[in-house]
Amino acid sequence: MNKTILITGASRGIGAACVAVAQQCGLSVIATARSSDKLDDLQRLHPTIQVIVADISTNKGRKTIADKVNQPLDFLLHNAAVLFPPKKLIEVDSSEFNQSISTNVEPLLFLTQALLPQLTQAHSKARILTMSSRAANNAYAGIGSYCVSKAAALMITNILKAELKPLGILINNYSPGVVDTRMQKTLRSSNDEVFPYSSDFKKLKNNNQLATTSQVAQHILQCFMSLSETAFSANTLDRL
Ligand SMILES: NC(=O)c1ccc[n+]([C@@H]2O[C@H](COP(=O)([O-])OP(=O)(O)OC[C@H]3O[C@@H](n4cnc5c(N)ncnc54)[C@H](OP(=O)(O)O)[C@@H]3O)[C@@H](O)[C@H]2O)c1
Repeated sequence: MNKTILITGASRGIGAACVAVAQQCGLSVIATARSSDKLDDLQRLHPTIQVIVADISTNKGRKTIADKVNQPLDFLLHNAAVLFPPKKLIEVDSSEFNQSISTNVEPLLFLTQALLPQLTQAHSKARILTMSSRAANNAYAGIGSYCVSKAAALMITNILKAELKPLGILINNYSPGVVDTRMQKTLRSSNDEVFPYSSDFKKLKNNNQLATTSQVAQHILQCFMSLSETAFSANTLDRL
């Protein structure tokens, strides 16, 4: 009996690394993102995975995903997110702000909702992780929309913790630390005047102190597959 994991934001970064590790763990993998070319590359590397091209910031994209998952779902990693180049919050326009919310927050609720039939069919209690960040608890100037979205994501996850328990579904936040991905590069592309942590991140990169996507993916899969129910459901799971 192969258990199944669905990973959003699987076209690059932490999500793509999780696809590789999940495969090694013997899971059936469903990988989703918008970039069909990147998902095709991923499928060439891992021929048995199922890929779904969808924009999770829309109801249509979320329905596309739910309609194409035709088996019980044991693990769900809400990993996809957007972070725009740093800018003062007071200068952010509504389309950028709304895109942060529709991508980083809404799927946690509405994609989970759409996948409830498959999650409640899981072989044992289904487990969901939502990707959190230090930005959920800290007011970092320069990435205000992202902070707001991750704070909302944290709250949604904590509320769903109680609401999904009676359905036999476990959910928690996961904080990966500082990881060498395109999102990190976006943060380093700024300057300290707009984003005061830019030079700290540049130092971490220059000193080879950023975590690799593979380290993070190993830890995420360990949390999904090896933690006890109590440990999985405790406070935010933090890699550090
Ligand atoms: N990197 C870090 O240091 C760090 C730290 C803390 C938390 N995190 C969190 O970890 C997660 C992964 O981050 P990452 O660094 O790996 O980011 P990344 O390299 O920028 O990857 C983001 C992924 O999200 C997907 N995505 C974005 N918008 C989407 C949309 N509308 N619909 C579907 N997919 C969408 C992208 O695919 P497409 O563009 O192909 O759609 C891509 O696969 C995020 O939740 C992030 O907030 C990262």
